Amino acid sequence: MDDQSAIPESDPVALFDAWFAEAGTSEPNDPNAMALATATPDGNPSVRMVLLKGHGPEGFTFYTNAESRKGGEILANPRAALLFHWKSLRRQIRIEGSLHEVTAAQADEYFHSRPRVSQIGSAASDQSRPLPGRQTYLDRVEDIAREFPEGDIPRPSHWTGFTLVPQRMEFWLGRPNRLHDRRLFVRDESAAGDGWTSGLLYP
Ligand SMILES: Cc1cc2nc3c(=O)[nH]c(=O)nc-3n(C[C@H](O)[C@H](O)[C@H](O)COP(=O)(O)O)c2cc1C
Repeated sequence: MDDQSAIPESDPVALFDAWFAEAGTSEPNDPNAMALATATPDGNPSVRMVLLKGHGPEGFTFYTNAESRKGGEILANPRAALLFHWKSLRRQIRIEGSLHEVTAAQADEYFHSRPRVSQIGSAASDQSRPLPGRQTYLDRVEDIAREFPEGDIPRPSHWTGFTLVPQRMEFWLGRPNRLHDRRLFVRDESAAGDGWTSGLLYP
């Protein structure tokens, strides 16, 4: 028991929910933006921002193009790290674990929940591959809009989502005099209670 820490010592998923909900009311835009770090099997890392589009005990879900740079890295090495930083709250959350692809039905549902223009923009994008000139992209957008003059655009099969199943979750809370608070949760199926163990880390 550590009564000096401001971070609860159990249930990191509920703690994520609480911090995420607070970020939703305090951040000026995209409180669901997170850095997604992936790596090649031989250890070359890369990182970019994506949007969190679903979360719960099963994991943290984002959507993307499976043929992008990140998609290739995930296919070869399905492990990743996520990072949220809510500056105005002085809070950071790091999450690490393995990834699995969402079902086609889930990907369809999310793809078709987006505005038609976003569907067209994604369908026209060979994400991460060289683009000879911006006009090429705009022409593809126009071609798709002409091919499907109204309503939803069919989801390209490479446009999909991934769910990160958390193995480690770390919460960082800025506190006065730089005496910050950090707590690391590690999933441990043999642990009593919620299946997580936790401990503090030096900041
Ligand atoms: C705030 C923000 C949110 C973004 N959200 C997504 C997203 O949800 N999915 C996505 O594929 N790209 C998203 N992007 C673009 C990515 O950061 C990145 O440029 C793109 O996915 C290509 O990355 P890759 O070449 O590493 O595959 C977002 C960018 C920003 C700045």
